[in-house]
Amino acid sequence: MPVTPAPSPRFAAVIVAAGKGLRARQSVPKQFAPWRGKSVVRHAVEALSAAGAGPVVVAIPEGADDIARGALGGCAVRLVTGGMTRQESVSAALESLADDAPSLVLVHDAARPDCPATVIDRLLTALQFDPGAIPVLPVVDSLVRAEGERMAGSARREELRRVQTPQAFRYADILAAHRDWPGEPDAGDDAQVLRAAGGEVALVTGDERLAKLTFAEDFVDRTDTPPPPPVRV
Ligand code: CTP
Ligand code: MG
Repeated sequence: MPVTPAPSPRFAAVIVAAGKGLRARQSVPKQFAPWRGKSVVRHAVEALSAAGAGPVVVAIPEGADDIARGALGGCAVRLVTGGMTRQESVSAALESLADDAPSLVLVHDAARPDCPATVIDRLLTALQFDPGAIPVLPVVDSLVRAEGERMAGSARREELRRVQTPQAFRYADILAAHRDWPGEPDAGDDAQVLRAAGGEVALVTGDERLAKLTFAEDFVDRTDTPPPPPVRV
């Protein structure tokens, strides 16, 4: 019987898990901490793998192989050593994919454990037209400029969006953009890196479930908290 070749993976994934998680104040870097039954990074890896990502590269802190392997269980991933900044971690992971030369890549924060497949579909669709696509949400609160503890001005929230990950790119374009980045200042995210190199970035609708675990209170799982009893009058 003829062997049908497996369909080629639709996209590679880079998951950055090389931070220290200082603001989260967990006993281990937050991406390796437990969250709803498994580690935060494992949630992120499984979400992208289930959506068809391959290969999946995870950037981890230097010397953290054992804790990372423990946190990832049997997940099929490649580990690379990240850098001092998020951008350096992304660059290291992108470079490690050079031989694979995937056509598309998603770059995702390990600290975002939930990733709806609907967002990935929107991102990949947008890449048919632009070299980059990112999930964003509207700003609902009004915004001010601050100088220390004093209000120094305001900003028009209608022009602004909250940016999430995963961010999606044509691999050759984001790799070239990272190589071109001058190094300073540190880029906030990869969409900035692509845009600085002249690449257009499409905005697609994000999802509140993509929220990043950042502070210690984010690790208090409110889904485990029963609703308060009804008030009797
Ligand atoms: N990250 C990384 N390499 C770094 C810094 C950050 O791979 N040198 C990753 C983090 O592991 C995280 C993501 O980038 O998944 C987003 O960064 P952030 O939420 O700021 O995480 P940390 O830098 O680890 O946390 P903190 O800033 O509180 O120390
Ligand atoms: Mg940080």
